[in-house]
Amino acid sequence: MGDLSDGDLRLTRRLRQLPFPLALILGNHDRGRDRSGELLRQQLALVKDVDCGWGRLDLDPLPLSVVGGRPCSSGGGYYLSQAVEAVYGPVTLEQSAERIVAAAALVPAEQPLVLMAHCGPSGLGSDPSSPCGRDWKIPAVDWGDQDLALALDRIARTRVPDLVIFGHMHHQLKRGSGLRTSLMRDRRGIAYVNAACVPRSGVNDQGETLLHLSWAEFSGRRLSHLSHRWYQPDGTLVHEELLPDNEFLAC
Ligand SMILES: [Fe+2]
Repeated sequence: MGDLSDGDLRLTRRLRQLPFPLALILGNHDRGRDRSGELLRQQLALVKDVDCGWGRLDLDPLPLSVVGGRPCSSGGGYYLSQAVEAVYGPVTLEQSAERIVAAAALVPAEQPLVLMAHCGPSGLGSDPSSPCGRDWKIPAVDWGDQDLALALDRIARTRVPDLVIFGHMHHQLKRGSGLRTSLMRDRRGIAYVNAACVPRSGVNDQGETLLHLSWAEFSGRRLSHLSHRWYQPDGTLVHEELLPDNEFLAC
């Protein structure tokens, strides 16, 4: 879900070499400090076969596709950086939402409806610990993407999305205030996972190296499992945090 690096193309090239189906959306950090859009164009050229931004990507041979939100979002409602405008033009919030809605309409009925964005939607709460809550500045506000929220509302009129995956808002809150909520389901039944566990690897109290993955499983169209998982490098599962069964939002 983006922020692969601060604009370093080497990691993007390595990701492209992974030997399995891949869907990717770029984050605000992936344009580096370049405002001209040139670095963003280089990133997009590298990921063009796996980029789902503002479109639908088929994860062939899996019976799954991913609908992408607005590329390179930095959250905060709706804002396009100079680099994004240089590459994509002055896209309005309404146009952005409609691109996402149009892409979702292309997902076959027999497949789950999965959306991936760099920042999550607005509407998931305005506390510092909300999935997209601003925790680095007082007052805390809902820092989610308004175009994504609008798109989800429109998509849900005909088909309720199964899963929305995003990053950008780190799990660890500022000033040692704990962790943000990163797994939830709203009253429509849409499941959300904020996958921004930063850093993705570390050492626990027992001295074990652990690697984080956000993990979703589907049974046909139905989302059957959603969790954060921490693995040892040999693939041993050490710890799992599950989507709470009864955690619903007002929306
Ligand atoms: Fe980000």
